[in-house]
Amino acid sequence: MNSWGVRLSPFARNTVLICSLVVIASGMAWMVLGWQADEQDYTDPLHTLRHRMLVLHGIAAYVMVWMVGRLSNLHQQGNWRAHRNRGNGLLLTAVLALLAISGLCLYYPPHEDWRESISQWHQGLGIALALLLPFHLLAASTLRRLRNHPDNAR
Ligand code: HEM
Ligand code: HEM
Repeated sequence: MNSWGVRLSPFARNTVLICSLVVIASGMAWMVLGWQADEQDYTDPLHTLRHRMLVLHGIAAYVMVWMVGRLSNLHQQGNWRAHRNRGNGLLLTAVLALLAISGLCLYYPPHEDWRESISQWHQGLGIALALLLPFHLLAASTLRRLRNHPDNAR
């Protein structure tokens, strides 16, 4: 069974994690390849690879936004109401929302001169997501362990 409830099923959890990993890894790869590729030489194969990473990133980002929408009803709102992992969950949600907004602004910059700064913000937020997600998982497993501890059983 695939449950996208307050507690995610192994299927839902793995789907979220694999998609997050593809989004994060493709974004990071674009950054790293930018340092390696020769800016003047457009025949450098690293430019092609970098472009492919951006295409992969754009596709994975679409799936990610759809998946966070799926989490919103039961996982996010349900855990929020139950006062579980609130601070971390809220921060994660805010970073994801800002990533989606800044990502959209990269496609359609409000002003061409702003694109570079929006890109820098987007990359910073991307690194923040890569750091926050493991924290969210760690907090989740700690909370679960505390809940299942015999001293806390009613
Ligand atoms: C207000 C927002 C959120 C709150 C309050 C929240 C809360 C929680 C809680 C309490 C758990 C532990 C569940 C349990 O084991 O019983 C958890 C696990 C998890 N959350 Fe969230 N969360 C939020 C947003 C998100 C978002 C946006 C994502 C997407 C990236 C996400 C992904 C996950 C994943 C992958 C797990 C691990 C599931 C598992 O170990 O079974 N959460 N969250
Ligand atoms: C919900 C999460 C995210 C969404 C919706 C998103 C969306 C987007 C979009 C739409 C673009 C423009 C693609 C293009 O120009 O073809 C983009 C570019 C980019 N994203 Fe993300 N992204 C997300 C997460 C991340 C993460 C986690 C990183 C990791 C560091 C990241 C790094 C980048 C980079 C480096 C670029 C290229 C910037 C540029 O063209 O100047 N993104 N993203």
